[in-house]
Amino acid sequence: MKITENYPLKTLNTFALNVDAKYFTTVASKDEIKQSVEIARQKDVPLLILGGGSNLLFESDFPGLVVRNELKGTSVIDQTDDSVFVKVMGGEIWDDFVKYCVENGWGGVENLSLIPGTTGAAPIQNIGAYGAEQKDSFVELEAYFLKTGKRKVFSNNECMFGYRTSIFKEKLKGEVFIESVTFKLDRKPTLKTEYGAIERELSQIKDRKITVSDVRNAVIKIRRSKLPDPVELGNAGSFFKNPVVTAGKLSELKTKSPDIISYSFGNDSFKLAAGQLIDKCGWKGRREGDAGVHKNQALVLVNYGNATGKDILLLAGKIQKSVLEKFGVKLETEVNVV
Ligand code: FAD
Ligand code: EPU
Repeated sequence: MKITENYPLKTLNTFALNVDAKYFTTVASKDEIKQSVEIARQKDVPLLILGGGSNLLFESDFPGLVVRNELKGTSVIDQTDDSVFVKVMGGEIWDDFVKYCVENGWGGVENLSLIPGTTGAAPIQNIGAYGAEQKDSFVELEAYFLKTGKRKVFSNNECMFGYRTSIFKEKLKGEVFIESVTFKLDRKPTLKTEYGAIERELSQIKDRKITVSDVRNAVIKIRRSKLPDPVELGNAGSFFKNPVVTAGKLSELKTKSPDIISYSFGNDSFKLAAGQLIDKCGWKGRREGDAGVHKNQALVLVNYGNATGKDILLLAGKIQKSVLEKFGVKLETEVNVV
């Protein structure tokens, strides 16, 4: 295995933070995962698994071994009249998998088009967008425990998926390498088009049946209009999670700000739009040095070029403070800080 010292990570994290890894390697097989763990152990340094680097913020250089996931392969492992089961290796690009499903007319993940990153990272925060989450199509994943070298297949229930979370972001954080994920796709899909912006896009198609491909195209169009492309402007998507509050808290907020956006979240709780709260605090489009708040979407923090992870965290802290002071709502970070 080739181990490189002081490896630059600027092009391997979508915030484009100019940091180095003390050691860097790539893994393309299960055997190489085992070897990389052994090397980190011998050098007595921490190990960080890197996918597309699209949900990471490096505070500074990484003092250990960064292991980039290049486990590749996508295969149909089972089929019925209604469903197709596809096993995807963790290093496959998520959106390539979505495109493959859509090209075959299989439904389930089309609303998750254009989300950056790898398939192995998708279950970690249970990626979601436009009325769908990966858990809706997820069957199981295969994980390698870094400490013990054991493997385990996790079922959907065992992953404990929730809004932007799973057991891998909580109890088992940093403990496993997700090697592959299996999804169940529908041959006769029920399309999820209730999300306002999708409905508006699709209302232009009047003369024929809407397909999974139409939904993918609509999602891509909406995303491109709202979110900055990391190739042009460093960012990691939503920096914070949308906060969940009780019905009582929501009504208190609505008294002060009647236009507060909320979505029912079950069990007497409601999800707020963090972007709107940040926007109402006046942060949208603001810039402090090279760290900034995106001009169209206040939930996305951006790097205008030479911001450091610390600059972005400083700005994030100020935003959290003002949202707490103005609304009494705590914003939790979605991005993984390393
Ligand atoms: P990385 O950033 O490389 O890693 C994230 C974390 O997972 C790290 O802690 C890493 O160590 C760990 N990890 C990565 N791979 C593995 C593995 N195989 N096994 C174990 N641990 C691993 N997210 C959404 O949910 N919805 C969106 O709509 C969305 N939009 C986005 C838009 C933009 C422009 C950007 C930049 C990001 C967006 N994201 C969104 C966030 C991001 O795309 C997802 O969280 C994605 O799943 C991260 O994948 P990654 O491979 O880049 O993970
Ligand atoms: N809004 C404002 N001002 C802003 C930003 C948003 O008023 O600056 C309002 C919008 O007008 C809208 C509401 O807030 O009414 C929600 O905004 P949007 O539809 O853009 O979605 P979001 O809640 O900000 C979430 C996810 C995104 C996902 C989209 C689409 C989280 C933390 N973010 O964003 O996921 O793509 O919905 O489903 O849940 C990510 O996780 O990285 C991510 C990009």
